[in-house]
Amino acid sequence: MKLGVNIDHVATLRQARGGAAPEPVYAAAIAEQAGASGITVHLREDRRHIQDRDVRLLRETVQTKLNLEMAVAPDVMEVALQVRPQCCCLVPERRQEVTTEGGLDVAGQLAQVRNCVVKMQSVGTVVSLFIAPEEEQIIAAAKSGAQFIELHTGSFANAKGESEQNFELDRLIIAAEKAHSLGLRVNAGHGLDYFNAHLMHHVPYLEELNIGHSIISRAVFTGLAQAVREMLDIIK
Ligand code: PXP
Repeated sequence: MKLGVNIDHVATLRQARGGAAPEPVYAAAIAEQAGASGITVHLREDRRHIQDRDVRLLRETVQTKLNLEMAVAPDVMEVALQVRPQCCCLVPERRQEVTTEGGLDVAGQLAQVRNCVVKMQSVGTVVSLFIAPEEEQIIAAAKSGAQFIELHTGSFANAKGESEQNFELDRLIIAAEKAHSLGLRVNAGHGLDYFNAHLMHHVPYLEELNIGHSIISRAVFTGLAQAVREMLDIIK
């Protein structure tokens, strides 16, 4: 299982003062040197953290692979089609949310999602869909032509107590099996931290975990390289 490091919150800190530091490009390089297999950023429509210039610079400097999280929205699509990241992950977006709250409703907007998948694939980008572990969404994801799904692990991460956590883990396991049976490749992410990430080993076919907030939070105290290495120790 590989680790993609989401560096959005390095940019959140920078935007708090509107200056140049801390620089997401440096963060990406440090995370890669510490063993990350990819760098993830979310270019939100409100540009609250990652900016267009970050995406362009990271496309040039990231040595592993750049994974761009994006809404199915014309403005962000335009940037994505110019930048041509190695991978993108289509996510839902609501202006008021603190973070990506639910999965993308692929079943409810299959035509728009398929259109976006085709466009991104036409510039050589591998496409993933961030979805809840629900059969209806997985079947729709397979119909969309996307190569990957990223299973939303938020409900698992927020589960209270062992039985609720096991219930959510089972949902992820069943979803991963279903996705694999339909020819989809599987990643996972959201809310994973140093206490729950090891449980992802129960989920079959997982190729990569995308983790942001917990790593950047730990980095405040340990430094980013150490925080990435500690997460890698857990998931390996
Ligand atoms: N995967 C996706 C699709 C996300 O939107 C996010 C949050 O930006 C993450 C993974 C990482 O979540 P977290 O910051 O909680 O680790």
